[in-house]
Amino acid sequence: MQPHPPPTRRRARTPAAPARRKPVDVGDGAAASDSATPCLLQRAHLQAVPSTLMIPLAARARGSRYFPWLACDDAVATSLVDRLGADVESCLDDLPTVLNVLWRTRAIKDAGRSFFLAHPQARGVNLGCGLSHHFQWLDTGANQWLDADLPEVMDLRGQLLPVRCPRTRQATVDLTQPGWWQRLGLPQGDGAGVQPVFIVCEGVLMYFQPAQVQAVLREFAQCAPAGSRLVLDVMTYRAVGHAAQHASVGPTGAEFHWGVGNMDELTAAHPRLALLRQQSVSECYGWPGVVLEALWWPWLGAPLYGLVTLGVGDGSP
Ligand SMILES: C[S@@+](CC[C@H](N)C(=O)[O-])C[C@H]1O[C@@H](n2cnc3c(N)ncnc32)[C@H](O)[C@@H]1O
Repeated sequence: MQPHPPPTRRRARTPAAPARRKPVDVGDGAAASDSATPCLLQRAHLQAVPSTLMIPLAARARGSRYFPWLACDDAVATSLVDRLGADVESCLDDLPTVLNVLWRTRAIKDAGRSFFLAHPQARGVNLGCGLSHHFQWLDTGANQWLDADLPEVMDLRGQLLPVRCPRTRQATVDLTQPGWWQRLGLPQGDGAGVQPVFIVCEGVLMYFQPAQVQAVLREFAQCAPAGSRLVLDVMTYRAVGHAAQHASVGPTGAEFHWGVGNMDELTAAHPRLALLRQQSVSECYGWPGVVLEALWWPWLGAPLYGLVTLGVGDGSP
């Protein structure tokens, strides 16, 4: 990929943009929406971590104006932001995060496409889905998809994005409660004819305690059929406890509790886990980004922000 540096000039925060977004802001853009939809967001009363779903939604809807080479053409996000009339300008002021989201969206899209090319009838799952919609890009015409998140988020999602395709499903899940794999009705075991599962978990696990993340990884490793994939985003443990300094997460009141100090930690939860791929957003900053990250690696222990693909059972990429 030809690296492109992100724009260096940031837009000033608009006077109308409030300093804090807790719960999620709803701006005055209701004129462009149907009158009931903006109220949905207000009525959802999202708590700190669930309210962070607006950050990636804003980036996918509007971020391509800053990073056109990473445009993800997310028609669903664009329509949702318009319908909700939400003030997403403050999210868009945080350009590094907009870049992170667009970069990871493209990487997840690529990972999903290659998985479903090999397994066109398999199932995809988005854990902590928020209002994201990967099935718009990954529908093979024969695969299945499950979007799952906390009840308050799925309630909002159900009203905004009702299930229309018989191969898709929505479910509530609390990933901090063991047994989620079975409760979601996901396939288990390695018997003949059991299809592997493609799982996305983006922008979620950094808000969990380290022991909770290990438990999620262990449950995936214990339950997932051979050949399954789990794509998740990671950041360095040096960011833990510093969400207040993060331009778009800080105002939500959410905190980062989990980060990676050594990439081996990702497979330590279970012997069945294999680290199949690791990617860093530093590639978007060209060689200066890659060199700087290499120099800082002994202190960071992991990418400042990156994506990993974990596999179970077969060890193949
Ligand atoms: C930053 S948002 C990311 C949303 C979505 N993955 C995306 O990229 O657009 C974080 C999401 O994690 C979800 N989440 C937080 N804790 C959770 C839990 N214990 N179980 C399931 N989802 C959770 C939140 O509700 C929220 O939708």
